[in-house]
Amino acid sequence: MRTRMQVGIVGAGPAGLLLSHLLHRAGIESIVLENRSRDYVEHRVRAGVLEQSPVDLLKAAGVGDRLAREGLVHRGIELRFGGRGHRVDFPSLTGGRTITVYGQQEVVKDLIQARLDAGGQILFEVTDVSVHDLESAAPRIRYRSGDESHEIECDIIAGCDGFHGICRPAIPDHEEHVFERTYPFAWLGILARAAPSHEELIYAYHERGFALFSMRSPEITRLYLQVAPDENLADWPDERIWRELHTRLETGDGWKLNEGPVLEKGITPMRSYVCEKMQHGRLFLAGDAAHIVPPTGAQGMNLAVADVNVLARALSEFFRTARKDQLDAYSQTCLKRVWRAEHFSWWMTSMLHRFPGDDGFQQRLQRSQLDYTVGSRAAAASLAENYVGLPFE
Ligand code: FAD
Ligand code: PHB
Repeated sequence: MRTRMQVGIVGAGPAGLLLSHLLHRAGIESIVLENRSRDYVEHRVRAGVLEQSPVDLLKAAGVGDRLAREGLVHRGIELRFGGRGHRVDFPSLTGGRTITVYGQQEVVKDLIQARLDAGGQILFEVTDVSVHDLESAAPRIRYRSGDESHEIECDIIAGCDGFHGICRPAIPDHEEHVFERTYPFAWLGILARAAPSHEELIYAYHERGFALFSMRSPEITRLYLQVAPDENLADWPDERIWRELHTRLETGDGWKLNEGPVLEKGITPMRSYVCEKMQHGRLFLAGDAAHIVPPTGAQGMNLAVADVNVLARALSEFFRTARKDQLDAYSQTCLKRVWRAEHFSWWMTSMLHRFPGDDGFQQRLQRSQLDYTVGSRAAAASLAENYVGLPFE
């Protein structure tokens, strides 16, 4: 079966779904192809922090009502080290900017609903997705749905299929444009039915390794522990996780972490990765398909939103006027923000984790940097500015 579509989008994560929504608002038709089920993508637990500009964009695009009602606006974070907490206040350091804690799967649910309400097409559980003729004016996407093979002829293809997707590998010689770091640790994350025992996120630097206290709602706590990169989840029964979280997060000030039933558990590797070739012919990569940051700076989903904001504007110009200036500048425009986020998340990761084999030198640098960050207004402002994110153009 053959069809035609202005924009074919691979992947129904935040990037693909938001792109489809923004294009619809600009009068451009798209189709989203996703290899997982709707239920799966709506319940995949991942990011939780939205910067100010993505929040403003989602609200302005008409998909921010539930976010405004249920999102938790945070005005700061705590860095915990040396036996006590040190708060970094965002509004006073950034001219009034804040962040909003709202689960990525909630953003995904809101976007899917908005697309379906507007008659948009999202095809779930498709298989064998592949992209072709990228250098021509009519690139094609092939996929299977059930027993049928399909082909969509597009004007543009957007690769929003995450880090393990098929679009980036379809760019010839893309590896020559890749810059990458891996880290000698991973994060073990849990979601627990427990009321958050603190109003703001806590980033804890501890001799046993990093820990992060976060949340999703007034009933749900989200927690992470630094673990070895090859850690086996089976070696971490709930009691061991809680014990380690208490040790790393609690200090002598009487604050106690609330416990509750563990709803979800997983291990996430830590990686920095940028493919600087975000465009090839009529294929454009957005979000994790093009770049990955370690989660310590809470930047990944925000970068995905920033990319598709740029791409939607460029496509709008292209379909309105046939001009390609913004499309041709796409990689260059996105990469400025991408590298800022890469630096910030690398810096937060390097400052807060224990590095195996360290003889104490790095720990002393980390401690000096932490003291400086909470002791100097300029240093605190730098962290705050990066954490709340740069304004969109
Ligand atoms: P994805 O969400 O990965 O979406 C890609 C979609 O494409 C998926 O639905 C996938 O199923 C689909 N797909 C893949 N291959 C194919 C194929 N061949 N055919 C069809 N479909 C395909 N970011 C933040 O901003 N703040 C945070 O606090 C934060 N915390 C994080 C915590 C953890 C534990 C993790 C793992 C990540 C975190 N991130 C955070 C990063 C954030 O989750 C990602 O950056 C974000 O998901 C990127 O969105 P995306 O749409 O580009 O990619
Ligand atoms: C989360 O709530 O999942 C979260 C928060 C902050 C981070 C990473 C993840 O830096």
